[in-house]
Order: sequence, then structure tokens, then C-alpha cells
Amino acid sequence: MLDRSAFIQNPESGIYTMHVDAELLSEFVPKPLVTHAEAERIEQARSQTRRKSFVLGRSVLRLLVAEILGVDPQTIQVGVRPDGSLYLIDLPGSISLSHSGNSAAAVFSERSVGIDIEEVKPRRDDLYTYVLHRDEYDLLSDSGLENNEATILFWTLKEAVLKGRRSGLRHSPKDVRLDIDFDSRKGLAVVGGEEEWTVVYERLSDKFQSIAFR
Ligand SMILES: CC(C)(COP(=O)(O)OP(=O)(O)OC[C@H]1O[C@@H](n2cnc3c(N)ncnc32)[C@H](O)[C@@H]1OP(=O)(O)O)[C@@H](O)C(=O)NCCC(=O)NCCS
Repeated sequence: MLDRSAFIQNPESGIYTMHVDAELLSEFVPKPLVTHAEAERIEQARSQTRRKSFVLGRSVLRLLVAEILGVDPQTIQVGVRPDGSLYLIDLPGSISLSHSGNSAAAVFSERSVGIDIEEVKPRRDDLYTYVLHRDEYDLLSDSGLENNEATILFWTLKEAVLKGRRSGLRHSPKDVRLDIDFDSRKGLAVVGGEEEWTVVYERLSDKFQSIAFR
């Protein structure tokens, strides 16, 4: 049996994250943690990848919340707002989750939070022009990373912010301006010139994981 708490990290005070690979889920729970209603809903999804990632995401989220709040994971009710963001029904705290490749990650906090994970793999050469504002292009060289890798990192940082504020990609990533300290893997993101979010990130094998909180 794996030590579940070893998979829960606390990158900042009051922020808890959990990241699990699909093949490890059975080490945590005998069967996926989805409600009957969720299972029925996701059965309608055409893509098997989507069905799998949904089940993994909900399971990781429930494992994390159960561990932090000390409740039975089977009893955790997760609501979906009209904008697509998630909330805990009858429990305190903010949540967010992300899936990419064969893993999913969740974050829980009393503060507003967002999380994003992305696989580091070759993407379109011009992706950075969609992610970064022209004034941010220096970040690419400042990061010390190769361009594709840096672009994916900035993508996760900005998407974590957009998920934390619940607008998602309805809001342009270019309007989220980053100021990152690459040594401490921490920084500030400012949306629309005034709304400030703290961002932290880490590299987990083939993925970047970023978290944004207020
Ligand atoms: C939120 C969003 C940025 C996630 O993109 P992604 O990188 O493909 O996916 P991730 O795995 O990182 O995150 C998906 C999770 O984000 C959450 N999410 C969805 N919409 C969200 C929002 N507006 N705010 C915060 N979180 C949101 C959900 O939990 C979702 O997982 P679930 O459907 O299994 O519950 C993107 O879906 C988006 O911008 N959605 C809003 C805009 C929209 O609805 N566009 C139409 C799409 S057809």
C-alpha cells in the first residue's frame, strides 16, 4: 500500500495538491471514486480518453479532499457551475483539477485556486504567440528553457490563473501578465492590469504543474 500522504504536497501554506498517474490509482482505492450520476453522465462522452480522464480526475480530487478534510471520499459531492468550474457541495474550500496524458492533479484550499498540468511534448512552433503578450517574449530566454518547454510552462501558469478565476480560456491568456522568479519557481500573474494571483510551478517527470491562488 502506498503512503497516500506522500502524494499530497503543500507548495504554499494552505494550498494542497495531489497528482496521480492512472496506473497508480488502484493503489489508492479499490475502485474509482465517481458517483452514480457522474458515471452515467460521463458514459455519454464519445471519447474513451475523456471518460478515463474524467474518472481519474474526480477520483484524485476526492482522495485529496478526503485526506485534508478527514471525510469519507465516497460522501464528497462535487458540483459543476455553469462556467464549467467545480465546487464542493456541503464542504468548505475551493477546488480545481486538471488532466493531461495519463495523469490528473487536483488542488484544494480555503483560498481561490486553479491548477493546470500539461505534458512537455512538441507543440506548434508559434504557440508562444498565442500564450504570451508581445511584451512578455523576453520570458522565453529568461526562463533558461528551450522555447517549446518554456511555452508549455507559461501556458500552464496562465491557465491555472484562468481556472482559478473561473473564466477559463474565454479570457485571453495574453491578458495574464507573468513575472516569474525561475529559481524559486514562483511569481506573480496580473490579469487585466489589476487582478493579482500568486503562481507556483514544478516539473513532474514529463509534465509541468502550475497552481494559482489569491
Ligand atoms: C477550463 C479550461 C481552460 C480547461 O482546459 P483543458 O486544459 O483542456 O483541461 P484541464 O484538464 O486542464 O481542465 C479541465 C477541468 O477544468 C475544470 N473547468 C472547466 N471549466 C472551467 C472554468 N471555467 N473554470 C475553472 N475550471 C474549469 C473542470 O474541472 C474540467 O475537468 P472536468 O470536466 O473533468 O471536470 C477550458 O476547458 C476552458 O477554457 N473552458 C471554458 C471555456 C469553454 O467552455 N469553452 C468551450 C469549449 S467547447
